[in-house]
Amino acid sequence: MSSALTDLFPHPIVQAPMAGGVSVPQLAAAVCEAGGLGFLAAGYKTADGMYQEIKQLRSLTSRPFGVNVFMPQPEYADPAAVDVYAHQLAGEATWYEAELGDPDSGRDDGFEAKLVVLRDNPVQVVSFHFGVPGREVVDALHRVGTFVLAAATTPDEARAVERAGADGVIAQGVEAGGHQGTHRDIPETDRSGVGLLSLIAQVREAVSIPIIAAGGIMRGGQIAGVLAAGASAAQLGTAFLATHESGANALHKQALTNPLFVRTELTRAFSGRPARGLVNRFLREHGPYAPAAYPEIHHLTSPLRKAAAKAGDAQGMALWAGQGHRMARELPAGQLVEVLAGELAAARASLTGGGVL
Ligand SMILES: Cc1cc2nc3c(=O)[nH]c(=O)nc-3n(C[C@H](O)[C@H](O)[C@H](O)COP(=O)(O)O)c2cc1C
Repeated sequence: MSSALTDLFPHPIVQAPMAGGVSVPQLAAAVCEAGGLGFLAAGYKTADGMYQEIKQLRSLTSRPFGVNVFMPQPEYADPAAVDVYAHQLAGEATWYEAELGDPDSGRDDGFEAKLVVLRDNPVQVVSFHFGVPGREVVDALHRVGTFVLAAATTPDEARAVERAGADGVIAQGVEAGGHQGTHRDIPETDRSGVGLLSLIAQVREAVSIPIIAAGGIMRGGQIAGVLAAGASAAQLGTAFLATHESGANALHKQALTNPLFVRTELTRAFSGRPARGLVNRFLREHGPYAPAAYPEIHHLTSPLRKAAAKAGDAQGMALWAGQGHRMARELPAGQLVEVLAGELAAARASLTGGGVL
């Protein structure tokens, strides 16, 4: 990582941005104060909502932090497929006594307005998900002193991130919780993906910018592993979802270690784009035929997910989680950073002591 970027945070630990009210300012502040890099998630928020969170986080910490923005999606959803899915979900709407959402409620959640806010009120790091912006956007952020990152799930996507002039690439393995940052979700895409260790090695050979590794990382020993494989830092989502400061619904937090939920799967059931969540009833029933239509399906299912949460029914919620979910530890976020840093140091000492590194 360009030295200045790693210098921003003492521990090579990034708290993943988690949209949907999970990575609230209190969580990011606790991570930053403990020496990690905290992140806010601007996805599904208005530009003003994002700005208010930035102001709140600034009032909680003076340490550097990041803001994550979703790239707008090109229009390739098949309206007929969305209609068919809506018909299939009619029974869910009746069950939860909710109306289905309007699939056409908006495609880009204020992308341009967010860029204006981020140019006028610069933060230290901005990362992009679901694609990479044009060079002019990256250059504009550089001009105000912001480091730019973007996610990649393949070596080709990592090359696109480097070509756009980004300062680093987030290599997101298939183990990762939440949405895969795939740049283009075409309907034919299967639900397989590249495992993190293999992805880091492939991305390392494809680009020369620094790599932040994400996907299934729950322990400091795994951070040592991805650093040894060529990453400069690790980005953890599910591990921080379980912390005290996380804004995740209590049912979601409990589900991570509930023996009822033993598996995760990539699914389009909730949003129309592949995302990894705990296998529950909704995912099992609707995942197999949900169409590639993001954000239409996100809007369509939004009232159902809210109604399920209100009814205390985890079987109808989007329980995003990475493959390591059962190792989640319910700690204050700052303490989790310290524990991870301690495990990392111990793993490094045992690797070097044993002559491995
Ligand atoms: C609840 C949840 C929400 C997420 N939301 C976002 C998001 O808004 N932006 C983003 O770039 N990544 C998001 N991710 C993905 C993370 O950035 C990261 O890739 C992932 O959490 C890593 O895998 P892990 O959960 O196994 O640690 C989310 C992940 C989770 C679990």
